[in-house]
Amino acid sequence: MSSAKTDIATPMANLKVNGKTVDMPVRSGTVGPDVIDVGRLYKETGCFNYDPGFTSTANCSSRITYIDGDAGMLLHRGYPIDQLAEQSNFLEVCYLLLHGELPNAAEYEEFMLGITRHTMLHEQMTRFYTGFRRDAHPMAVMCGVVGALSAFYHDSTDINDPEQRTIAARRLIAKMPTIAAMAYKYSVGQPFIYPRNDLDFSANFLQMCFAVPCGPYTVDPVISRALDRIFILHADHEQNASTSTVRLAGSSGANPFACIAAGIACLWGPAHGGANEAALNMLNEIGTVDRIPEYIKKAKDKTSGFRLMGFGHRVYKNYDPRAKVMQKTCHEVLDALGTRDEPLLQVAMELERIALEDDYFVEKKLYPNIDFYSGITLRAIGFPVEMFTVLFAVARTVGWVAQWKEMIEDPEQRIGRPRQLYIGAPVRNYVPFSNRG
Ligand code: SDX
Repeated sequence: MSSAKTDIATPMANLKVNGKTVDMPVRSGTVGPDVIDVGRLYKETGCFNYDPGFTSTANCSSRITYIDGDAGMLLHRGYPIDQLAEQSNFLEVCYLLLHGELPNAAEYEEFMLGITRHTMLHEQMTRFYTGFRRDAHPMAVMCGVVGALSAFYHDSTDINDPEQRTIAARRLIAKMPTIAAMAYKYSVGQPFIYPRNDLDFSANFLQMCFAVPCGPYTVDPVISRALDRIFILHADHEQNASTSTVRLAGSSGANPFACIAAGIACLWGPAHGGANEAALNMLNEIGTVDRIPEYIKKAKDKTSGFRLMGFGHRVYKNYDPRAKVMQKTCHEVLDALGTRDEPLLQVAMELERIALEDDYFVEKKLYPNIDFYSGITLRAIGFPVEMFTVLFAVARTVGWVAQWKEMIEDPEQRIGRPRQLYIGAPVRNYVPFSNRG
């Protein structure tokens, strides 16, 4: 394939296959790799392009998030993640992701009130929780309860109505913390704590998780700010697996609540959002610094099936910029809680040091990702390991919703329907039971 410029407006890529030549337009974005529009490939050559895992495939155009994996850069609507994490707050980042610009005071106030006033759940939804075992994984609860939202909020499921799309978006962002906190409370046998309108997003989540009816609960501002920053770091990340799941589900016209439930299910996987839980379990299994070499060796042995959880990334071939902020936040939280000498932190820091010096990880460009330090931080705050991916889902809901809205409003969007390379049996006739061997 070669890329020839036939005119300034539309450079073309030329492909010769099966004796045919097809010219395909090369499109450029604001920044980042160009794309070759292969939409006519099958029609003109009878071939599909083949890219399991989508390592070289762009499935949409988007204005929301840009990642430069080699530079270790992450932009939300053009703003670098480290600046947003240090100077913004989660609800302002939600507004930015949804609307494309930072809000002025009036816009922020209206948006913040719109979220705050939708944090309560329909009271009957509390009954869903009693249908689960107390020891059910909270991600299983999230899949079930979020999917059921469409049974209660059917007045915001018409995806073709912009007003209903906005209402559904705000309901999802606002109610996810409440649903998540209720999943935690149910798992520990404590009563649900209602949201409070006098607290900001992250402080409200902390009180719904850790307050009890017997007495007052005081939100630690250092912990609340750290959690808000953790939510910012997890808000959106381009076309990752769960976001692509939400887009594909949404492309069929499914209601937004069902699409987000699909995203939650995908995020649960240990290769994706479940890695924060898996990373902490790995650090616990390693236990002490002297056992690190044994695990580094296992990670390099393909036959072991073991990977360093919290390391590596499909896009980042440099340090995940979120991981740097996450590491800093981890130290701040442990300092605030007086647990800086947390043994797992020592194991994590030594594991990171050794891995970053090891040729295997250097050659494969495997760096810590956002999940490496988040588990230590969340456990220090008081969340059980099973809740780590739930918190990821709470934060990522705004990214899923923003990407879902962008997909619905994209004139190019059609139902997603990939094809395949068929390697099964050729056509053959049915064999009656009596004639089989
Ligand atoms: C998230 O996509 C996103 O943006 C996701 C995310 C988001 O915000 O939405 O950033 C969140 O999911 C972060 C990633 C969390 N997952 C983990 O930490 C799990 C451990 N990491 C991996 O399993 C892996 O690195 C992936 C899944 C993250 C990326 O997989 P890829 O891009 O398909 O890479 P690969 O599996 O082809 O690995 C490339 C090579 C392989 O060796 P070779 O076959 O080339 O010899 O690197 C090796 C792998 O064996 N490798 C690892 C490794 N990760 C990759 N070896 C040891 N330990 C690891 N963690």
